Amino acid sequence: MSRKHDALGIDIGGSGIKGAPVDLDKGCFAEDRLRIATPEEATPEAVCDVVEQVAEHFAVNTDVPLGITLPAVVTHGVVRSAANIDRSWVGLDADALFGQRLGRPVHLVNDADAAGVAERHYGAAKGEKGLVILTTLGTGIGSALLLDGHLVPNSELGHLEIEGHDAESRAAESVREREGLDTARWAERLQTYYSHLESIFWPDLIVVGGGVSKQADTFLPLLDLRTPIVPAKLRNKAGIIGAARLAARGN
Ligand code: BGC
Repeated sequence: MSRKHDALGIDIGGSGIKGAPVDLDKGCFAEDRLRIATPEEATPEAVCDVVEQVAEHFAVNTDVPLGITLPAVVTHGVVRSAANIDRSWVGLDADALFGQRLGRPVHLVNDADAAGVAERHYGAAKGEKGLVILTTLGTGIGSALLLDGHLVPNSELGHLEIEGHDAESRAAESVREREGLDTARWAERLQTYYSHLESIFWPDLIVVGGGVSKQADTFLPLLDLRTPIVPAKLRNKAGIIGAARLAARGN
């Protein structure tokens, strides 16, 4: 039996593929989330198999919009980069591949853009005017640029070159783990990153998302910035909620 929901969101991450139907009025999951491990060789075909399982699990009508996040640049459904995913994604018309396999229209978006849209409607950036930059600190650094509530997609501010390095290779959460940095040392890296960001963009607000946002009180107070900086509110639900929202409402 199929059920009527506003939209379905699926978040493709490095370790898990997670999905849930989303209530777009409230900005929350309409049913418990399902998580399936990301295939070791995360090619488009292998990932699509898992996405199909997740979509089938929720048995939603095929006319229910489906939004899918990917940790990559996505323009008009086509994947353009692969910093932390299998190279075989680059150049793929993912909207077409997923749409065909799932027998329904799908809308692929960058993972951080999805999180930014969710925070803008239901979380830490709700009602904010001016320029908001959301960054996600995880395996890489993702970013969403929101101007007066409108998303400027694929900003990719995790790849700014700072002091000769790709920014995410110095300041991502995965780097903190890999190099065994304590909070103070990692905060120094974040200080360099966010100072640079605010000196180029002069944002009105910075929102920090990704898994680490739940420990934000351990490192945000160590940063000295002129821009207000706050933790994201929707945590690891933001990708699913934002993708569903973009697929259903387009903003
Ligand atoms: C990718 C972005 C992505 C971010 C977070 C970066 O390496 O280039 O597209 O949003 O990681 O997953």
